[in-house]
Amino acid sequence: MIGNYKIITVTHKSSTIKDIGKFVLPESNGVPLSIRLEKAREQLSISDLLYLPTCNRVMYFFQTEREFEQGFLEEFTRFFYPEWKVGKAIGKFMFYEGEEAIRHLFEVASSVDSLVVGEREIIRQLRESYRKCQEMGIIGDSVRLAMDATVRTAKSVYATTGIGQKPVSIVSLAIKKLLEAGISPTDRVLIVGAGQTNLLVCKFLKKYGFTNVVVFNRSLTKAEEVAAVVAGNALPLSNLAEYDKGFDGMVVCTASTEAIITHELYKQLLKGEKDKKVVVDLAIPNNVAKEVVESFEIDYIEIEGLKKLAEKNLQFRSNEVEKAKLLIEESIIEFKSLYAERLLERAFGDMPKRIKAVKSKAINEVFRKEIDGLDDETRALMERMMDYMEKKCIGIPMKVAKETILP
Ligand SMILES: NC(=O)c1ccc[n+]([C@@H]2O[C@H](COP(=O)([O-])OP(=O)(O)OC[C@H]3O[C@@H](n4cnc5c(N)ncnc54)[C@H](OP(=O)(O)O)[C@@H]3O)[C@@H](O)[C@H]2O)c1
Repeated sequence: MIGNYKIITVTHKSSTIKDIGKFVLPESNGVPLSIRLEKAREQLSISDLLYLPTCNRVMYFFQTEREFEQGFLEEFTRFFYPEWKVGKAIGKFMFYEGEEAIRHLFEVASSVDSLVVGEREIIRQLRESYRKCQEMGIIGDSVRLAMDATVRTAKSVYATTGIGQKPVSIVSLAIKKLLEAGISPTDRVLIVGAGQTNLLVCKFLKKYGFTNVVVFNRSLTKAEEVAAVVAGNALPLSNLAEYDKGFDGMVVCTASTEAIITHELYKQLLKGEKDKKVVVDLAIPNNVAKEVVESFEIDYIEIEGLKKLAEKNLQFRSNEVEKAKLLIEESIIEFKSLYAERLLERAFGDMPKRIKAVKSKAINEVFRKEIDGLDDETRALMERMMDYMEKKCIGIPMKVAKETILP
């Protein structure tokens, strides 16, 4: 049933970016994330599950026969967020089921629902989350089918509407703010983290001619790759505390759910300099500790503050969003018929085996005596006829079902 598709999500439309950060699951809380997600499937009777954390949403897309009733929601919340008061957490969630869930997934992937409408980064993030969940073994046939349709839909939205034209992204908006805050190309810039986001940051820094960039990352190889984009230096994250060359601007963005730039570390990095620094924190949850922002003279740029710029972008793209939504409606109709066909295939999946079993019983039990009395030629003819019947019969129920049931 298409109604078994469900989404539980927290997004920038219903929550602050800070709150969204509180719903990002840590890689480990004593128990590795993969084990927790696998357990969730078992305990919550979920057949397949896709978990997607991004900078403006946390989404669980899954299949279950269970309804969205209070009992299920409470179990879900207690399982994933035991530290939250159940009612409070549930109050932050948005819920979608069946066709609505598919629509939401298509809109997310097509960037219609993004904070920065038209940014293509979301499709990369979705694919990456899908890959990780697949590696964890928690993706099943239904989510796979929906994901294929999602990627097709998003590609067609980007290709046939102007939603992604004049591309903007969280990163491009953040760089705009960084420059507006007075950071110039010769200033000292520290980059903390060398993931996809900071790779994009460095591409922008290169574009604006920055010449004094140092990239810190847990794994040095990745730091080197990202630093190379802007001809900067690379150092391991573990060396950050000893870094003594000071800085004017800093861009922090890792997938850590804990603050990386603590009060103590920030103070060391200042090296006694008193002028105002510009700190961009693109991580969700934030990677710069609250005390740093509260205690030091800082121009602090975070995703929450980029919302206004993002709204201007939405006005520019509103016509394209309408076009994208029409396309998405067409894709939903297509998907519903595809899904119904898949359900039939599953239902009739063991039909060949069953027909073979009937044939075998007829030959080896029911008509055995009569067959034993036949000469070789007659027996061979009979077997050929049985094989022919078997082949022809296998397709009949599926064909009739498709003709009578499918839309
Ligand atoms: N992609 C976007 O458009 C976008 C935009 C705004 C904000 N964000 C946010 O940015 C953050 C990172 O996203 P991403 O796409 O850049 O991630 P990514 O490509 O997966 O890279 C993750 C980065 O975080 C580092 N890292 C992970 N766990 C860490 C830990 N415990 N301590 C220190 N470093 C750690 C990794 O270091 P190693 O290389 O050593 O593993 C790597 O540099 C997320 O919070 C995301 O929501 C993303």
